[in-house]
Amino acid sequence: MSTPAEHELLKCTRELLECIAAHDWASYERLCDPSLTAFEPEARGQLVEGLAFHKFYFDLPASSGPRHTTLCAPRVRVVGDVGIVTYVRLTQRLDGNARPATSAIEETRIWQRTEGGWRHVHFHRSAPQ
Ligand code: GLY
Repeated sequence: MSTPAEHELLKCTRELLECIAAHDWASYERLCDPSLTAFEPEARGQLVEGLAFHKFYFDLPASSGPRHTTLCAPRVRVVGDVGIVTYVRLTQRLDGNARPATSAIEETRIWQRTEGGWRHVHFHRSAPQ
């Protein structure tokens, strides 16, 4: 049984992943704080701050072909005005030989409650396995 805040945080996280997959920059920018910080494989061990680093990838053409995302065992924790969402993201797609392939990525997403709703303020994402 989840609280309304936990439900909202999961919904925001799913929306965020959908807009990343769709290269929908306007929605990503709306969900994120301009000071978003991130550790992700593309940043080569550096903590990147701000949205410009992420926009680079949204400006590239979205990959074609079928793709399906599953959030496995998501956990949501609310600490005051902060929400912590952790899960493994499974992505199914076709590889270069048109064979189905699945990748798994561990993610931690931190959200801050603001007057305008939850804003994404930090994430940590592992390399795909
Ligand atoms: N690389 C953007 C994100 O995972 O939020």
